[in-house]
Amino acid sequence: MHPQFRITSVFAALALWSSPALATSTGITGQSGKDGMTCSTCHKGGELPTVEFEGPTSLEPGATGQYALIIRGGAAKTGGINIAVDSAETSLLASSAGLKKLGTELTHSAPQPFNAGVLRFDFSLVAPATDVTLTLFGAGNSTNADLKSDGDRSSTAKLSVKIGKGTPVDVPQEEEPEENADGGGCAAAGSAPIWGCMLAGLMLFRRRQG
Ligand code: HEC
Repeated sequence: MHPQFRITSVFAALALWSSPALATSTGITGQSGKDGMTCSTCHKGGELPTVEFEGPTSLEPGATGQYALIIRGGAAKTGGINIAVDSAETSLLASSAGLKKLGTELTHSAPQPFNAGVLRFDFSLVAPATDVTLTLFGAGNSTNADLKSDGDRSSTAKLSVKIGKGTPVDVPQEEEPEENADGGGCAAAGSAPIWGCMLAGLMLFRRRQG
């Protein structure tokens, strides 16, 4: 391969790879509100929409639940979203057309049209095999379809989902009795272990002497 061609292809690959992050109209992650950032960092000037999750607040371990993130109001011409979950063992799957998976998160693949002031994105959640209480984070952007970031605004929503018995399931049982039995080990004056410790010490002392 000609070296110059090789360099060009590296640049082409880089441009392809980085373009989805810049063109947020084709989807964006890390803006669900889970890490503090939302679409409103860049999208400003529009009216505030309302954003909410719909779906079960409890699931059996390993079960699949049907959910939706719904945007109402705001500029309400087109819109997009970003959904994330705070449990690494949980997977999110896109159900709506116009919704895609990017990394572990969900986002719009192109600006989606509102219908009578409402824009709904359906997805499913596959619960982890172990009990946990997880949180879904969603940001919904209500945009004015000018393919720019002004005249738009987003809101965020959260939903707690209890998997099995939820979290915390087991309060660490091994730790508790030790804490409650004032001290324990050789420091516990007046309790049985101290005699054991003294005996052991005495025997060790005797053996050394002999
Ligand atoms: C880092 C800045 C930035 C962030 C954060 C951002 N966007 Fe954007 N967004 C832009 C820019 C710039 C454009 C215009 C260029 C384009 O179309 O990508 C845009 C355009 C859009 C459009 C088309 C808007 C219109 O009026 O036609 C949608 C829909 C969109 N973004 C959704 C989102 C969503 C949903 C989020 C949050 C989950 C988000 N964006 C977060 C910068 C951002």
